[in-house]
Amino acid sequence: MARTQWILGTISMFSLLACGSKDDEASAPLRIPTYHEDVAPILAEHCQSCHEKGGIAPFSLVDYEDARRTAEAIRISTTARTMPPFVLDNSGECNTYVEGRWLSDAQIATVAAWARAGAPEGEPPKGAPPAPKALASLDRIDMTIDMKDTYTPDAAKFDDYRCFVLDPGLAEDVFITGFHVRPGVASMLHHLTLFSIDTPEQEALAESLDAAEPGFGYSCIDDIHVPNTRWLVGAGPGSGALTFPEGTGLRMRAGRKTILQIHYNQENGREADRTQIDLRLEKSVPKEAAVRRIAATSLLLPPRQPKVDQSASQPVPMNVTLWGLWPHMHKLGTGMHVSATHEGEEKCLAQVNNWDFHWQGFAHYTKPIDLSWGDTMRITCTYDTLGRDTTTTWGQGTNDEMCIAFFYLTEN
Ligand code: HEC
Repeated sequence: MARTQWILGTISMFSLLACGSKDDEASAPLRIPTYHEDVAPILAEHCQSCHEKGGIAPFSLVDYEDARRTAEAIRISTTARTMPPFVLDNSGECNTYVEGRWLSDAQIATVAAWARAGAPEGEPPKGAPPAPKALASLDRIDMTIDMKDTYTPDAAKFDDYRCFVLDPGLAEDVFITGFHVRPGVASMLHHLTLFSIDTPEQEALAESLDAAEPGFGYSCIDDIHVPNTRWLVGAGPGSGALTFPEGTGLRMRAGRKTILQIHYNQENGREADRTQIDLRLEKSVPKEAAVRRIAATSLLLPPRQPKVDQSASQPVPMNVTLWGLWPHMHKLGTGMHVSATHEGEEKCLAQVNNWDFHWQGFAHYTKPIDLSWGDTMRITCTYDTLGRDTTTTWGQGTNDEMCIAFFYLTEN
């Protein structure tokens, strides 16, 4: 029933949280786990990059006292797989991801047994506690996209979406092979997206939008208002650097500008922001990548339903390699399943069980997936409309819905 699209993706998004939970505590270990021996190494590797002093999480998890105080919340969030935050299933049943933040079932059982036993401390280690795993960084920085000025979000808007037309000053085409977003004020940055402008006409439009409004940039809630721009960079807080799969990259054109769309959320205050994006570049790449989407756009979600599924399918228009994806729904979404029929067989492309609107971003497959011309792709999104009194349909607004998988792909 749903109309489908396979077009260059223009992404926009908003706020709020929805999550399903899976009650899947695997069998508990025989010995009662202790903090120092069993739990601290798990927290160091999987939690402390965000849960440290000054990190993006609201509390730290760096010592025994932190962990003891929050043991029950840790047990609940790890068992439900809402923490560490990663919306795609990384269990191996439907692919695994290079950026996958994921605890094994055994680790979850260990944490649960420890919390249930009253969070025992155990013997402190002789040497230093396990070192936290650092967020990913770039191996080199070739260029920085800089706002070059500050912007203070509009006090009248709780969520201020602002678009800035920025000139990277390129004398020749280059390819982005990795990026690292450095927010000016991390607590205010909900997410950002950098788009490439490819033609002088688009650039003139972007500049007229900018000129039509006082202040730096133009307001662009939900839509950047310049059609056919290309996605280059997208990130929320806590993502660290993202490096694209070896041999692939996204083109930036000589002489052309970019549009940086930032969603500022003023929950934690309002300050002047100047955000920067470090880029890793190559002069050429063996395979130029593109971001294209499959979407179910004719959404019709009746109210007061615990579970509504919406699907769409479409033929694959060329031979492609899928390197990764970014699933996208709004706040009613709970799950997503993307699959393809390839040479008569069903391939699972993505499974989302714990959709959380706050955690947006690309993840790359550990093993890329080839699809052929004539294969069929199918996307199914699941929603919970119990909190709604009226029918919800497709739209850009936060209270509308979407059902999209953006794929990072190359053509073969
Ligand atoms: C990528 C960053 C990041 C990582 C990694 C991370 N957290 Fe969080 N965590 C957050 C943020 C941000 C919040 C607050 C907002 C939210 O709940 O999404 C949070 C909230 C929580 C909460 C509060 C309740 C809840 O579920 O919202 C608990 C408990 C928690 N984290 C535990 C953990 C544990 C345990 C780990 C590791 C196994 C972990 N977190 C890994 C960022 C992170």
